[in-house]
Amino acid sequence: MIIKSIDSQLIIKKFALNGYNIHPNAVDLIKKAGIDIDRIVDEVCKRADGCFIITPDDVIRILNEIKNRAETPLPKSKVKESDDKRVRKSESVNVIKDVTGKSTCRGTIEDFINYFNSRYEKISKIFRGRLTQIPIGSVWKVKSEKVDVVGIVGNVKEISDDKAIFELEDKTGKINVTATGKLKEVAMELLGDEIIGVSGSLMGRGIIADRIIFPDVPVNDKKLKKDFRIVFISDTHFGSKTFLKDEWNSFLKWINCEVGDNRVIEIAESVKYLIICGDLVDGIGIYPEQDKEIEILDINQQYEFSAEQLDLIRKDIKIILSPGNHDAVRQAEPQPALPKEFSSLFPKNVKCVGNPCFVDLEGVKVLIYHGRSLDDVVSRIKRLNYSNPHEAMIELLKRRHLSPMYGNRSPIAPENDDYLVIDEVPDILHSGHVHTYGTAFYRGVFVVNSSTWQSQTEFQKKVNLNPQPGNVAVYNPGGDVIRLRFYSG
Ligand SMILES: [Fe+2]
Repeated sequence: MIIKSIDSQLIIKKFALNGYNIHPNAVDLIKKAGIDIDRIVDEVCKRADGCFIITPDDVIRILNEIKNRAETPLPKSKVKESDDKRVRKSESVNVIKDVTGKSTCRGTIEDFINYFNSRYEKISKIFRGRLTQIPIGSVWKVKSEKVDVVGIVGNVKEISDDKAIFELEDKTGKINVTATGKLKEVAMELLGDEIIGVSGSLMGRGIIADRIIFPDVPVNDKKLKKDFRIVFISDTHFGSKTFLKDEWNSFLKWINCEVGDNRVIEIAESVKYLIICGDLVDGIGIYPEQDKEIEILDINQQYEFSAEQLDLIRKDIKIILSPGNHDAVRQAEPQPALPKEFSSLFPKNVKCVGNPCFVDLEGVKVLIYHGRSLDDVVSRIKRLNYSNPHEAMIELLKRRHLSPMYGNRSPIAPENDDYLVIDEVPDILHSGHVHTYGTAFYRGVFVVNSSTWQSQTEFQKKVNLNPQPGNVAVYNPGGDVIRLRFYSG
């Protein structure tokens, strides 16, 4: 079995709750034992006899005792019984925001104007009550020297080691903002086309900034307590020569409760939702010479194979499937859900949604976004990298926009309504695209980037992208986050 963890931290935590520290080698022994962790913790602690650190010898002694008592495997009938129970679970997926079936975009100049007006209106609303928001065209009429403005960022220029200048624009005008000292560093991380607030002093023909303010998310202190878990995956790239078949099959065995000790099976049994955040298939003609790296050369057959794979997942799990840039929908974001010709191939427990999509799962608000803009964010902000994708995702939350930079690597369709604005704060932000893994809690929002099921392609070698495949985040809203690893390379 390739499941590398139950996380070490979970084991350490369980001993800590019983008042014990545990030696790292003892943790490894428990992980390798493949026996219900709660049972080992219980038995080891019972015999710990007031010691402070649980040693490897303590664990070996208990493991031998358990072995001698002939460990009873989970009876098959028990698995069957819980299978039956699982079929009866009811799920609820309420799509709150999704462009599917609502696109108005024709690519006219008017569309672009409406799109940016929508972006500005939605985000400037977030600043209401926090800033006075003087229209930029009227700042010179204000008697006070201090002004607060909100506008779209343009043309950031580094003037010296200590100074940067950028433009800020709203519907009424444009003004230069000078940022010095620490604010210069903030200015140099501005992505362009995002909407920010500036508080500062009028000087010459512009503003000297005292503060640069991001719309950001308020602290989410909503108390979630759910008895189910959500599994986050993405970038399966079915049809690629580098699709990790063995690792995927291990994942299927786990999610279908076919492998693992009682604890691992219990985690799988509690899964009610599986979210797939784009790039279900490898697609055709997505990057130069991709045909050399594709196993299934026909897009229809790629989706047929995908449907077979999804059909192998137990049917009481609701699968929410959002597309990515390798899928067969328009490239520009927001992307609609996969068309009927493909979605009709999938089993009934699969719900196809757009990218991005804001869904409510029994009161848990999830914002699903494939993550193409992460390329722009990582290339613009020097302290970020692909190894920690969750940090780039946090920058999107701060900016309350999923793709702040217009006209870079992320094509945007100018809809009359900007679907990429994060107007409602989610409980979870889920992305993929960069093929690495990372999770974090930012102001109470669970942020997860969900790895891939494809090893490094020749193209990725050329662009120096080192994937971290086969990592799966399993989250119990209001409870724990478990990282399962199905990749041993
Ligand atoms: Fe991908």
